[in-house]
Amino acid sequence: MADYLIAPSILAADFARLGEEVDNVLSAGADVVHFDVMDNHYVPNLTIGPMVCKALRSYGVTAPIDVHLMVKPVDRIIGDFIDAGASYITFHPEASEHIDRSLAMIREGGCKAGLVFNPAAPLHHMEHVMDKLDMVLLMSVNPGFGGQKFIPHTLNKLRQARALIDQSGFDIRLEIDGGVGVQNIGDIARAGADTFVAGSAIFGQRDYKSVIDAMRAELAS
Ligand code: DX5
Ligand code: ZN
Repeated sequence: MADYLIAPSILAADFARLGEEVDNVLSAGADVVHFDVMDNHYVPNLTIGPMVCKALRSYGVTAPIDVHLMVKPVDRIIGDFIDAGASYITFHPEASEHIDRSLAMIREGGCKAGLVFNPAAPLHHMEHVMDKLDMVLLMSVNPGFGGQKFIPHTLNKLRQARALIDQSGFDIRLEIDGGVGVQNIGDIARAGADTFVAGSAIFGQRDYKSVIDAMRAELAS
């Protein structure tokens, strides 16, 4: 069986109790903490930055933190997230002037690097940097907000991305972000994803464990 990772997006958590929320979702069986960084410039919303990432590490979170940068420019914030304890750092290619350099900065800082593709963004930006990628993240909603509906066309795009990754022979995770829930996670996995971001589907329920268990049951079937 594929090694699937469930990555709750803390965008949908209660920010007033963030440490506790992260503890709870990890005890409920989550693998990775998905950390959405929005700058009110590249996307029309403003969220959290390196200080909050660092605070989660000081609080005692040891799970991987998957930093999804929705910021422009990208490079000047990368170092701060490396210092703050990020595990993965992913960014949108159109937000970086020099994609190869930004990816290299992330890996040189000891983090895993990835590119994020918006629903209408072509996948060609990954073509010449496959050897520098640890993650490819496909957006299945337009970035900026949680709680949106999964765009069905993304399933075709996942199949294309999966084929490109398999052809490359590199060990690259394929992550999906936006509108993911128990009802569609099985189809998404069959289309090739192995890492699943879910915000409202998990934090919108009282019992995080029952949602994560139901997701795992879909992935196992
Ligand atoms: C959207 C963010 C997502 C978001 C997902 O810009 O990148 O990570 O939190 O939220 P849901 O799962 O509610 O669509
Ligand atoms: Zn995200």
